[in-house]
Amino acid sequence: MAIKLIDKYVSTFINAHEYDRIQPQVTLADSMLRSKTGPGADFLGWINLPENYDKEEFARIQACSAKIRKTCDVLVVIGIGGSYLGARAVIEYLKSPLYNTLKKDTPDIYFAGNCISADALNELLAICEDKDVCVNVISKSGTTTEPAIAFRVFRALLEKKYGKEGSKERIFVTTDKARGTLKNFATQEGYETFVVPDDVGGRFSVLSAVGLLPIACAGIDIVKLMEGAAAASHAYTNPDLSKNDCYRYAAIRNILYRKGKTMEVLASYEPFSAMFNEWWKQLYGESEGKDLKGIYPASVIYSTDLHSLGQFVQDGSRTMFETVIDVLDTKSSFEIPNDPANIDGLNFLSGMDLNLVKKTAMQGTILAHVDGGVPNLLIEVSEKSEFVLGELLYFFELSCAISGYLLSVNPFDQPGVEAYKKNMFALLGKPGYEEMRKELEERLKN
Ligand code: PA5
Repeated sequence: MAIKLIDKYVSTFINAHEYDRIQPQVTLADSMLRSKTGPGADFLGWINLPENYDKEEFARIQACSAKIRKTCDVLVVIGIGGSYLGARAVIEYLKSPLYNTLKKDTPDIYFAGNCISADALNELLAICEDKDVCVNVISKSGTTTEPAIAFRVFRALLEKKYGKEGSKERIFVTTDKARGTLKNFATQEGYETFVVPDDVGGRFSVLSAVGLLPIACAGIDIVKLMEGAAAASHAYTNPDLSKNDCYRYAAIRNILYRKGKTMEVLASYEPFSAMFNEWWKQLYGESEGKDLKGIYPASVIYSTDLHSLGQFVQDGSRTMFETVIDVLDTKSSFEIPNDPANIDGLNFLSGMDLNLVKKTAMQGTILAHVDGGVPNLLIEVSEKSEFVLGELLYFFELSCAISGYLLSVNPFDQPGVEAYKKNMFALLGKPGYEEMRKELEERLKN
């Protein structure tokens, strides 16, 4: 595998027998997952998705992305949570966080409907003013407030620009295959639709049309991405912890959690990982944080954050462990120039590849953090490529499921997400919430 888990930096925090003790629980978690007898068993479609997907739809995604690439300068992807994080993570990881400002023959891609901000919406509308625009609205339920508001706005923009008929060629809808407001509306208007599979939850949906259409629009090879994920799905089937890095990662997280390490910090030394970290945080946060349990998922980009959060990680409350992702071949290098005046005293670095400096910073930081009482897990990723990223996405999805079962939660539901929505709707005066509104307003007054 192109992914390797290195656990030597947790060896002073975990005794060998602890792996033996958790092994039966891992074996049980694996069996519950594979036999579909654990909690949330209706949402396991992601397990076989890398191979067991709708091939006809996949071909339509490729054709549609070619059409979008040809007909627009800007693709606006509307969605929130699992309906946008995967696509954005993959595009920024493989292309660049500066993707939109790069010279390229693919459209700029902006993400909307993932917040409630007039400024963000107005800025994007201004960007779209003189551009040719397409929209991909993604919502499994079709009723989520943030994307629904954005869709109203961008639908109106497209209808104004291209007329009702013209806008039909530019609006693409990813939603439930048969039910829901958005599906009904898309059918009525004649928009091309793609499917969020019934048995795949939002945060596990990056390898469905949810992620694949925007990713393909960015010119990324989605066949390779799926092949990488498929390779991972074959590689991580043996529940034996000594033979399965994916399950071992899940086991180590839980061993550390049971010792009071209640926060995991995902650390990367590459800014292109920032949105990947966000995807990972949603995956683990929404899957595990329930029943008053769970490891809080946090993230950093080093060395940037060594100059902000580094102090806390080194020296603050000892409740965390770190998982460091090291991408070995990022496909570029940079030689540090010589300065004859050596004003900064750094000429000892002259001629050195920046990747070596990064690697050394990483090694030094891991040792310092371990000395400071922070267990460190290292995940080596062989290269930055579609195939290997596909493996990595699957690695984390599968380990998340196993880890959730080790924690005895249902990793596939998200009951807690409803609480804020109900309060918001009541306070905004949604019909049917009148009593609740009175009660909440009273609480806010007092
Ligand atoms: O992972 C999830 O299930 C959530 O983050 C959803 O993706 C998110 O709430 C958006 O939901 P929907 O796609 O129904 O608009």
